[in-house]
Amino acid sequence: MAPHSFFLCTFLTFSLSFHEIAALEYRVINVAAATPGGIRFNDEIGHSFTKNIMGTINNYIWSVVFQQNCPADQKQVDSVNTYIAELDGAAGIAWGNNNINISTGYIKDLVGDVKWHFTSLMLHEMTHVFQWNGEGTTPSGLIEGIADYTVLRANHTEWGFANPGDGDRWDQGYAVTARFLEYCDGITPFFVAKLNKLMRVTYNVTYFEDLTGKPLINYGRITRLNIHIDVSDIVDMLNEMVGFSPDKDGKVICFQKLHKTLDVEKYRYPGVPSFLEYVKNRQLWILGDGVMQLRLCDGS
Ligand SMILES: *[C@@H]1O[C@H](CO)[C@@H](O)[C@H](O)[C@H]1NC(C)=O
Ligand SMILES: *[C@@H]1O[C@H](CO)[C@@H](O)[C@H](O)[C@H]1NC(C)=O
Ligand SMILES: *[C@@H]1O[C@H](CO)[C@@H](O)[C@H](O)[C@H]1NC(C)=O
Repeated sequence: MAPHSFFLCTFLTFSLSFHEIAALEYRVINVAAATPGGIRFNDEIGHSFTKNIMGTINNYIWSVVFQQNCPADQKQVDSVNTYIAELDGAAGIAWGNNNINISTGYIKDLVGDVKWHFTSLMLHEMTHVFQWNGEGTTPSGLIEGIADYTVLRANHTEWGFANPGDGDRWDQGYAVTARFLEYCDGITPFFVAKLNKLMRVTYNVTYFEDLTGKPLINYGRITRLNIHIDVSDIVDMLNEMVGFSPDKDGKVICFQKLHKTLDVEKYRYPGVPSFLEYVKNRQLWILGDGVMQLRLCDGS
């Protein structure tokens, strides 16, 4: 089976990439050239720079983010069109099958390295063009998270990009979800590429378990957790728990179990009290029955 698939893929790569080089076109259309943002686009970013990064980003998305080296796996489009246009609200928007609109207002207001910021936005919007969305069934938070994951992978994050563990829900979108996906990548290499592949036809939350072997447990108020605790700390922790009193909202933190081989190397908090302090006002997501399970529960 394997040699046969490999041959098929190689064959398709050969024939389709030839076709693609001839056909896939990147177009840049400034429909607001007379506006301040449109003028700034022409002066400081330009058509040729934009076309170039569209090609580079497209290749980056296929080869690095989605690991789609076989054209049969890629979303095929004949062209990608970037419009520099007046937009309400959004900095950029991907629409239709293969179009991107970038706001003139956004370009006008950019501070600092204009091309650098513009590239960050294009990494995000280009991902929308090439990602699978379960034919419309993938939740929008996950879609936006994958687009920001590309920005994160490319080390092109803007100031203020979420840190690991930030946010309210894993699927709240954008940088928060990108950080959650980064966490999943740490459990299963190429997680995002594999998830995207599964979402070609439909979305199912079970994909998280299919790919990581761990169910995605939603305790309601949980975010990414990347902590490993030393065995000796369990004892300290339990001692600590005895004296741990409910906070003013009537909640206590309950430890459930802790049974996996523990990796001291990745130990992130120097002691249980500091960890509890970290956790107290946070929303925690835990993937599977990892090193430690923890939940917020009623103090009654
Ligand atoms: C994007 O800009 C083009 C050109 O002005 C316009 O035709 C289209 O409606 C815009 N689409 C969105 C979603 O804003
Ligand atoms: C990411 O970019 C920053 C500057 O923007 C740079 O200092 C850092 O070395 C880069 N990291 C990697 C892993 O390339
Ligand atoms: C998700 O997958 C499970 C297990 O295969 C299946 O029972 C369920 O119907 C699926 N849900 C959706 C929305 O497709």
